Amino acid sequence: MRVYFDYNATTPMASEVVEAIARVSRDAFGNASSVHHFGQQAKAVVDEARSAVAALVNGDPSEVVFTAGGTEADNFAIRGVADASEATGRKHLIASAIEHEAVLNTLRALSRRGWRTTLLPVDETGIVSPERLREAIGRETALVSVMHANNEIGTIQPIRELTAIAHEHGALMHTDAVQSAGKIAVDARALGVDLLSLSAHKFNGPKGAGALWIKRGTRIQPILTGGKHERNRRAGTENVPAIAGFGTAAQLAARKVADQQERVGRLRDRLEEGILRSVPGTVVNGARMTRVPNTTNISFDRVEAESLLIALDLEGVAVSTGSACSSGSLEPSHVLRAMGLPAHRTQNSLRFSLGLFSTEEEVDRTVSILPGLVEKLRSLTRTGRSVELNPAQQRG
Ligand SMILES: Cc1ncc(COP(=O)(O)O)c(C=O)c1O
Repeated sequence: MRVYFDYNATTPMASEVVEAIARVSRDAFGNASSVHHFGQQAKAVVDEARSAVAALVNGDPSEVVFTAGGTEADNFAIRGVADASEATGRKHLIASAIEHEAVLNTLRALSRRGWRTTLLPVDETGIVSPERLREAIGRETALVSVMHANNEIGTIQPIRELTAIAHEHGALMHTDAVQSAGKIAVDARALGVDLLSLSAHKFNGPKGAGALWIKRGTRIQPILTGGKHERNRRAGTENVPAIAGFGTAAQLAARKVADQQERVGRLRDRLEEGILRSVPGTVVNGARMTRVPNTTNISFDRVEAESLLIALDLEGVAVSTGSACSSGSLEPSHVLRAMGLPAHRTQNSLRFSLGLFSTEEEVDRTVSILPGLVEKLRSLTRTGRSVELNPAQQRG
């Protein structure tokens, strides 16, 4: 039995998505910009997907710009707003300290170009306080970027309150909803934001397909130069099959989100309670109430996370330490560090993330093998024997 509990890294595609991609690859191969029949056929596929993605976040199809994933959507939001604001004298960007690297490293790149940047701290709950934003924001702030749900601990941020503060100061608000879309209802209008990032592969769609939702009227510059695709907002021939898969995944997500939220939430709680009960020295990281329903991040006292990850993998259970992109670096998670957790918790934590195909049997199997694995690793540490890590297995 192989168990996949790493849905926050990526998800298996739904069969409907695989079929849509295959069908479109075969039957609608045209260039969506071409005037002839083949082009119009491809354009119709893109338009249908655009409507589905817009509906998932309660947006208008004209507000959706397709990108090559969440990373590009985040880059577009931040660099695009920065480029559009430069002439106005606003040269300050704010993000939270627990953002994904797609946001953090974009801010770093802009700070090298002379932008002032501020990272908002979080407390031990892993939630950004609106008060901290009030202290940091000013007349120079062009954009505030705070993720909707965190990828490592799942905490949901108070985006509506943060947006109100950003807008009071004339700044735009971006939220990276890559880890919330498909897991909980995401309503861009209710959140009040100006820009919202999505990525298809986090909710059973294909990799390399994402979107930036841009509220009508928002001032933003394209970041790619080229043709007039996506109404002059994102140059490059549309990846029609991937966009079709994204649209299908968005439709499925919209239809299933309420049921899945409950079903997956029950499984996550069963897993979490099972681990806390059967493995001594375990603690959940981050607020347990204000979380997406599929994620739990647990520290295992006196166990190195990478060793436990490998031991679990050898038993057929796939989990992760922090975010996949930083796995293998053996760097403690920047998210847990920002929460002020001590080293024994930042270095000993595993993320279990569940999803569409997760089952009770998988949860019970994981809970049944964990106590033995943890005890074995602890006894090796006690006897002073080091656990060899195979470098090939360290990669996320
Ligand atoms: C919160 C968050 N933002 C952005 C991304 C990047 O998305 P993509 O993998 O589509 O580039 C990820 C993926 O791990 C993520 O978790």
